[in-house]
Amino acid sequence: MRILIVGGGGREHALAVKIKESPKVKEIFCAPGNAGISQVAQCLDIASEDIDGLLDFALKNDIDLTIVGPEAPLTMGIVDKFQDKGLRIFGPSKLAAEIEGSKAFSKNLMKKYQIPTAQYMVFTEENEAKAYLKEIGMPCVVKADGLAAGKGVMVCFEEEEAIQAINEIMLDKCFGSAGNKVVIEEYLEGQEVSMLAFTDGKAIIPMVSAQDHKRIFDNDQGPNTGGMGAYSPTPIYTEEIHEFVLTEVLEKTVKAMAQEGRRYKGVLYAGLMLTAKGVKVLEFNARFGDPETQVVLPRLKTDLVEIMEAVIDENLHNLNVEWSPEPAVCVVLAAKGYPGEYEKGQIITGLDQIPPEVQVFHGGTTIKDGQIVTSGGRVLGVTALGQDFQGALELAYKSIEKIHFSGMQYRKDIGRKALKKVL
Ligand code: AMP
Ligand code: GLY
Repeated sequence: MRILIVGGGGREHALAVKIKESPKVKEIFCAPGNAGISQVAQCLDIASEDIDGLLDFALKNDIDLTIVGPEAPLTMGIVDKFQDKGLRIFGPSKLAAEIEGSKAFSKNLMKKYQIPTAQYMVFTEENEAKAYLKEIGMPCVVKADGLAAGKGVMVCFEEEEAIQAINEIMLDKCFGSAGNKVVIEEYLEGQEVSMLAFTDGKAIIPMVSAQDHKRIFDNDQGPNTGGMGAYSPTPIYTEEIHEFVLTEVLEKTVKAMAQEGRRYKGVLYAGLMLTAKGVKVLEFNARFGDPETQVVLPRLKTDLVEIMEAVIDENLHNLNVEWSPEPAVCVVLAAKGYPGEYEKGQIITGLDQIPPEVQVFHGGTTIKDGQIVTSGGRVLGVTALGQDFQGALELAYKSIEKIHFSGMQYRKDIGRKALKKVL
């Protein structure tokens, strides 16, 4: 098979590595890819949002299966456009991807079908949004409705902050039309777990649980990022919680989407908060998580291409998916300045000294004058598996000592919660 992967971050590198393991696969292309991906796939100079360019490439190059990493092309309707031309593509349709593309849509869906989530209201008028602050009380969370590259959520402890957030989203339009509506919701306290599942719109195969580390600094301090590391599984996510999530969140949501005429096929990612009052859904994503994928996929033992084909062919119920019991951790190495403005073009050394059992997934790298240099905020993700978390963490952090680029920053406490099982 000839495969096209859309995207160019750590998630897509992890996808490419796993896809390459499949005996069905002959050639992999990745648009646009990065320096690490170019070791397993042929990288293309096509942006992940250039849907016409991607379609043209797939048609001219007999691509058998296209796999979409990021959310933007999904919400733009890449799946519908490929399918219209008779091409096979893994991911939800435009209508289904709205579960991530519009927070108002996903909150209203959860309310309608009684899927547990924080109390909320949706507003199109800024003054009405501000009036609601008195009712919901502080702290609260203000969210831009549309896609905002992970930056559209503001947790506010003072009313002043919430008013400012509403002003920035609705009046200053800091996220463009994504701020035509805001969701204001109850603040939830607890530990976050990411639960991803394959679904063909009927059958659901949950993946193994994972936990992201969103803040830039140790002990969850500093601003939010795209994710500074992850581990899998999440020890606090018990069998009992999983049963609840399976029936009350994943099954209900997949059924609800079908009932709404938006049959959901692909990866459904539930961002969960384990609160003292039970599990609540923070958000849904219409794709694999980043960096969750870098700890989940290395544990997958079943052929990923086979799973994706079963999703497309609506045959998932016939499949048995197996996972390695070994825990995995991924530590992200970020550029100086990230998540604000960051440096680019720093030479990366030491990658050739990493032991073969450790996987270094490239997030933001490129090749310049024959050398691998930084080109993004989250530069690399170092993933290790072990017999236990202690072993996996030691291996990952020991490997990081060998890697160097100017300004490199990373968290030293990834996976600490898994070791302690603390809430
Ligand atoms: P979202 O994109 O909606 O998942 O929000 C991004 C991040 O903001 C989440 O991963 C949480 O860390 C935080 N967040 C979102 N909603 C809430 C909430 N209701 N209460 C507390 N934190 C939240
Ligand atoms: N790790 C968070 C996300 O993929 O949205």
